Amino acid sequence: MKNETAIEVQGLSKKYSIGTIKKYKKKEIGILDNLLLPFRMLRNIGETSFFNKNDDFIWALKDINFKINHGEKVGIIGKNGAGKSTLLKILSRLVYPTEGKATIRGRVTSLLEVGTGFNNNFTGRENVYLNATLYGLERAEIDSIFDDIVEFSGVGKFLDTKIKYYSSGMRMRLAFSVAAHLDPDILLLDEVLAVGDIAFQQKCLERVEGLASGGRTIVFVSHSMSAIVKFCDRVIWLQDGKVIYDGEATEAVKLYQDGPLSEKELDLASRSDRKGTGLVRYTKVSILDENMNLCENVRTGQCINIALDYRAEEPYAEPPRDVKACIIIEDNKQNRLFGLPSEILIADLSNIKSTGRFICKLNSLPVIPGVYDITISLLIDRQLVDKVVSAYKLVVLEDDYYGTGLLPKHTMGRVCVDFDWLHESRN
Ligand SMILES: Nc1ncnc2c1ncn2[C@@H]1O[C@H](COP(=O)(O)OP(=O)(O)OP(=O)(O)O)[C@@H](O)[C@H]1O
Ligand SMILES: [Mg+2]
Repeated sequence: MKNETAIEVQGLSKKYSIGTIKKYKKKEIGILDNLLLPFRMLRNIGETSFFNKNDDFIWALKDINFKINHGEKVGIIGKNGAGKSTLLKILSRLVYPTEGKATIRGRVTSLLEVGTGFNNNFTGRENVYLNATLYGLERAEIDSIFDDIVEFSGVGKFLDTKIKYYSSGMRMRLAFSVAAHLDPDILLLDEVLAVGDIAFQQKCLERVEGLASGGRTIVFVSHSMSAIVKFCDRVIWLQDGKVIYDGEATEAVKLYQDGPLSEKELDLASRSDRKGTGLVRYTKVSILDENMNLCENVRTGQCINIALDYRAEEPYAEPPRDVKACIIIEDNKQNRLFGLPSEILIADLSNIKSTGRFICKLNSLPVIPGVYDITISLLIDRQLVDKVVSAYKLVVLEDDYYGTGLLPKHTMGRVCVDFDWLHESRN
């Protein structure tokens, strides 16, 4: 089971109408979803068309693709409204996607919002049975884990009190305990650490770690970056309903905490941590696709153009004779991976005007998914006029570069080259 895919998400999109958002913000989404579920199942519609006749839509998710293997611990991060909860609701089958599909292999338990699935007028005890029954457990099975659930939750004293008198922390404790004792193959957790005291949060994390080390697959939505780093190996970062990063957890969290990627490149002109005379300065780095459109996502093996905009302090009376532009690509540990010096090619960059743009074309971006630093420099008539270390952070997403769905592991290095294997056997 280990190397099998537990969750496969293909072209997944979810459209909501703005009208529905008002309802969503006023009421509990869990209740709304539960009420609508039978209608949707019958008519196979999203709540968008059900509620709304106008055209004010937003895409909560747009063309999401990823695979999660059994046993992986994956964090989902992103700003408020990025689409994290929507994704988990689709994986839990609470909400239908508008486009695409999510395939799940294994028994899923999800803990989405505080007490979703709890009935306010039932006691804690009754709700444990109700909840576990909803997950398909027989009465005898529930009996056998009941004491453990109660003990873990720490709300034993209030077991025969109606849930409506529970504090949100107590509900969360009980809901988490049920979810964590159901022995799922796949555990989906949304903001479980948002409620509950530190001691219980710690207990939850330990429990989830225990489940994960037992080979369970965990998908964990959280705004707590320390929990994400501690707990997840991999992070999927959503922004405006799209995956903008999918890779190593520590790298993702560092980038996330540094601020939005798009703001980084804007600042190049005003950066003072640069070298050179300043006669000509780079003002912007942009990544373009093969048709010269700005790229949102760059993928392994993709044809890209790295465009370097510049501005000259004063126009040159005569074009300089010798202009050398260079790009160096480094990994996140400042290891140089490769350089792209214009001087080793027959490229004429000499006709410098007051503003302009050098473009370096890479037919196939030869790096595995990750985050890379782009350092740029410019030499004019043997004088260094500008150099900016880490002028741009290039986020590279996965692609099927070799046509096998596989890429070399990062422990083998980050560069991927065209290669083939042959075998000649001799007697
Ligand atoms: N049932 C719904 N109807 C209409 N819009 C919705 C509905 N559910 C979510 N949305 C909208 O979809 C977008 C994504 O919401 P989602 O709850 O998935 O974000 P999130 O990443 O979980 O945010 P947070 O960090 O605040 O929990 C938001 O713009 C939200 O307003
Ligand atoms: Mg959410």
